[in-house]
Amino acid sequence: MNQIPKARRIAVVTGGMGGLGVAICRQLANAGRHVIALDLAARVERLAGLQHELADLEGIVGFEPADVSDFEQCQQVIARIEQQHGGIDVLVNAAGITRDTSLRKMSPQQWHELMRVNLDGVFNMCRHVVDGMSSRGFGRIVNISSVNGQTGQFGQTNYSAAKAGVHGFSMALARETARRGVTVNTVSPGYCDTPMVAAVSAEVREQIIADIPVGRLGTPGDIARAVGFLAADDAGYLTGINLPVNGGYFMSF
Ligand code: CAA
Repeated sequence: MNQIPKARRIAVVTGGMGGLGVAICRQLANAGRHVIALDLAARVERLAGLQHELADLEGIVGFEPADVSDFEQCQQVIARIEQQHGGIDVLVNAAGITRDTSLRKMSPQQWHELMRVNLDGVFNMCRHVVDGMSSRGFGRIVNISSVNGQTGQFGQTNYSAAKAGVHGFSMALARETARRGVTVNTVSPGYCDTPMVAAVSAEVREQIIADIPVGRLGTPGDIARAVGFLAADDAGYLTGINLPVNGGYFMSF
C-alpha cells in the first residue's frame, strides 16, 4: 500500500466495483480522496482496469473484500481500514442487487436476500463507521437509493421497499449525527446504463426509456457527480436530503 498524505480523506465505496460503484470511485479519486472499493472478493479482477484508467492518480483506489450483508465482516473490514488509514471520512453505500418478480411469485428467499444486501448492508456499514466519524467531527455518508423507492415499480416490491427504507434510514441517522459534523444523504438514481438495468427485458427497457424526459438512460457518471457533490468537504449544510438524478422521470407522472 502506498504512503498516503495525512490530509487526504479516506472514502469507502461499497459495491465499489459495480455498475455505479466504479464511477463513484473514479469521481472521489479525482476529487483527491484515497478511495477503497469494498466489494465481493471475486470482483477484485476489475480493480486493475480502474487503476490503469486512473494511472495519473496511481495508488488512490484500493480494494477490500467484504460482503455487506454480513455484520461481522463489515465490522472487521472497517476496523482494518481505520487501523491502516486512521479513520474513514466518506462512506458511500452503493452495493445493491435486484430479485425482480411480481409479489404473487416472490419467495421468502428473494425477499430476504435483497433486504440483506440493500438495507441490512447500509445498517452494517453505517453502524461501524459512525462512531469514528462522530468522534473526529467530520463525516459524509451517501446512501444510494433508487427512483423505484420513490415511485414503486412493477415486479419490485422487495427492491422498492428496501430503497424507500434507505432514505428513511438516511433521514433518521442525519438527525442523530447533525451536531457532530457528519452528514447523511441519499442519492436516488433513475434508470442508468448499468448491468442491472441491462438485465431488464428489452421491451420493458424501451418503455422505460420512452418515459424519461431527457430521452436516454443515465450514465454512471451522472450519478457519481451527485455523490461527489454531497461528499464534498464544504457540503456540511446539506443533510437528510434525497437527491433524485433521473432525467426528469418524475415529470412523467
Ligand atoms: N407493467 C404492467 N404489467 C406488467 C408489467 C409491467 N411492468 N410486467 C408484467 N406485467 C404483467 C404481465 O404481462 C402479466 O400479465 P398477464 O397475467 O395478463 O399475462 C402480469 O403482469 C403478471 O406478470 P408476472 O406475474 O408474469 O410477472 P413476473 O413475476 O414474471 O415479473 C417482471 C414481471 C419481469 C418483474 C416485469 O414486471 C418487469 O420487468 N418489471 C420491471 C422491473 C424493473 O424495472 N426492474 C428494474 C431493474 S434495474 C433497477 O432496479 C435499478 C434502479 O434502481 C432503477
